[in-house]
Amino acid sequence: MYSEKVMEHFRNPRNVGEIENPDGIGEVGNPTCGDMMRITIKVKDNKIEDIKFKTLGCGAAIATSSMVTEIAKGMPLEEAEKISRKDIADALDGLPPQKMHCSVLAADGLREAIADYRKKAALAATTEGKKCKPRSKCKTKSKAKA
Ligand code: FES
Repeated sequence: MYSEKVMEHFRNPRNVGEIENPDGIGEVGNPTCGDMMRITIKVKDNKIEDIKFKTLGCGAAIATSSMVTEIAKGMPLEEAEKISRKDIADALDGLPPQKMHCSVLAADGLREAIADYRKKAALAATTEGKKCKPRSKCKTKSKAKA
């Protein structure tokens, strides 16, 4: 029923755990079965530097979670957020049709974590901007008086 790759990732999942002080967190639940996944990422130079997951779910959910961390590690964010359920299933040499819904967690969890990172980065940028007010505290050069 399952491919050898699925079984291998299920028995020996990669990147299990949680990153301390992550840059992004994705938490998703599978509406079909109620299984859950948490994914944490570290981002450096717009790339996924590190990624870990915790999944409370079936064997296919664990194998797809493990595979998505392997695919995404080192990838630029713009590419990582395009990883589809099918990409993950294909990398595992396929999933049985009745288990395709299990790859939802991995794909959506990663996208959530990236979205969370972007939200925090945007907020940090806004906060930085606010630090410039009042103007006297800005580091921007003021025009020299003639
Ligand atoms: S049965 Fe829930 S993710 Fe597979």
